[in-house]
Amino acid sequence: SDSDLASVLGGARVMPVLTVPSVSTAGRLADALAAGGARCAEVTFRTPDAEQVLKEMADHGGLTVGAGTVLTAAQAERAVAAGARFVVSPGFDEEVVATCRELGVPVVPGVATATELMRALKAGLDTVKLFPAESLGGVRTLRALAAPFPGTRFVPTGGIAAAQLSGYLAEPAVLAVGGSWMATTDHLGRGDYEEIRRLTADAVNRSTT
Ligand code: 3PG
Repeated sequence: SDSDLASVLGGARVMPVLTVPSVSTAGRLADALAAGGARCAEVTFRTPDAEQVLKEMADHGGLTVGAGTVLTAAQAERAVAAGARFVVSPGFDEEVVATCRELGVPVVPGVATATELMRALKAGLDTVKLFPAESLGGVRTLRALAAPFPGTRFVPTGGIAAAQLSGYLAEPAVLAVGGSWMATTDHLGRGDYEEIRRLTADAVNRSTT
């Protein structure tokens, strides 16, 4: 169903996480990501233009676009109104989860401990973000945390670089991996869309081999 992240991602396993300072770059960014083979992207609600950026990138048509850094139910509503097909949060908030459920959009709360994961499961979710994945101990921590929760899918994010991608994706519990390394604030500041395309293609290649 469309309220399931796996269905919305349609098999995509790399999630570029984008913090976009200006809406004027949204079109070129979407072009570069799509040219690199990305099929989805997460626009973080960390910049004043985030809502408009999300809308432009969703309207672009080549990518399934979701919202990230969604901290409140009001932000979730605005994100979905702007075209977000999924909602990601750094942590677990019951109101954000309830709002996304009412709107019929998959929500992926961040968890860092078994207790937080149990809260998410109790709320009826089966897919969570492990955040911040690398600082928590990376693949080893993910494997240990996943073990008691068969059927739970993880989207590890936070501090991950290209070199770590294959290790996470080899874990059966991992649905997809998120990260900003493919399109950083530096790349966007320099307008280096060729580098964004190249790093995206490299990540997509690593995720399919
Ligand atoms: C997020 O919001 O998920 C993180 O900022 C993305 O993590 P990264 O920037 O460390 O890749």
